[in-house]
Amino acid sequence: MSTPRRVEHQMTDKGYVPVYTTAVVEQPWADYTATEHDTWARLFRRQREILPGRACREFLDNLAALGMDDRAIPKFDDLNRHLGRATGWRLVGVEGLLPELTFFEHLAARQFPVTWWIRRPEQFDYISEPDLFHDLFGHVPLLMNPVFADYMQAYGAGGVRASGFGPESLAELTRLYWYTVEFGLIATPEGIRIYGSGIVSSKGESVHCLESDAPNRIGFDLKRVMRTRYRIDTYQKTYFVIDGFEDLFHATVDPDFAPIYRELAGHEPIPAGAVLPTDRVYHRGTGEGWLADGDV
Ligand SMILES: [Fe+2]
Repeated sequence: MSTPRRVEHQMTDKGYVPVYTTAVVEQPWADYTATEHDTWARLFRRQREILPGRACREFLDNLAALGMDDRAIPKFDDLNRHLGRATGWRLVGVEGLLPELTFFEHLAARQFPVTWWIRRPEQFDYISEPDLFHDLFGHVPLLMNPVFADYMQAYGAGGVRASGFGPESLAELTRLYWYTVEFGLIATPEGIRIYGSGIVSSKGESVHCLESDAPNRIGFDLKRVMRTRYRIDTYQKTYFVIDGFEDLFHATVDPDFAPIYRELAGHEPIPAGAVLPTDRVYHRGTGEGWLADGDV
């Protein structure tokens, strides 16, 4: 079996551009180098250290239940045995970023695409695209949670339908994923905690999102979130706080989104850092360090 390709973003005169791939591949576990296992180990230990008291209990408990540790890059097959028993989800290896519709189709089939390769040592603190550490450590623990697992499938199914509704609908759905699956916070009896995978896989943002005065922390509201632009180059200006994973499931399962797209049509998107009079505000950000433009 030959090693799958490593498909990465490419540098052009317009900056890094995303490169898409659709192949599903076997994880070439025997080919990982000592350096790659060491990158996993160091990233794992660093996040495992700072996440207690910051990440939600569901994330931490399921990380342990999956048997991930700092000894070696996990094998997808081992994780799949746990996942299959818990929620019927399955990891599939991919070479890099997937086109939107392909990604939605995987989720709708309860398959989570995981990039087989891990970042290089010089990308230890920041990589602009998903790698194995982000995908496995960040995303897989919550796929063990039955409510969250159902949300992810419903989201994928919604995405498949939205691809027929045009770019505006897709943008709205992408914002929902961004502000929940990637950068979501959750209110718990012990305080606000992290569940978003983009946060739990980042040392800096794990601290920033909870402890910095700069960003807004606002109660989750489906239509508000679907209108809100976001940042891909810096920490988020706004984080949305759910009351429980049921919030997410109800947000996607009831509507087929079509009435929401119609309702949102003609409304201007909301800037990433804005606070509206109707918002349920946990914390109004000071805006310190925010760049004036660059929301996507
Ligand atoms: Fe992600």
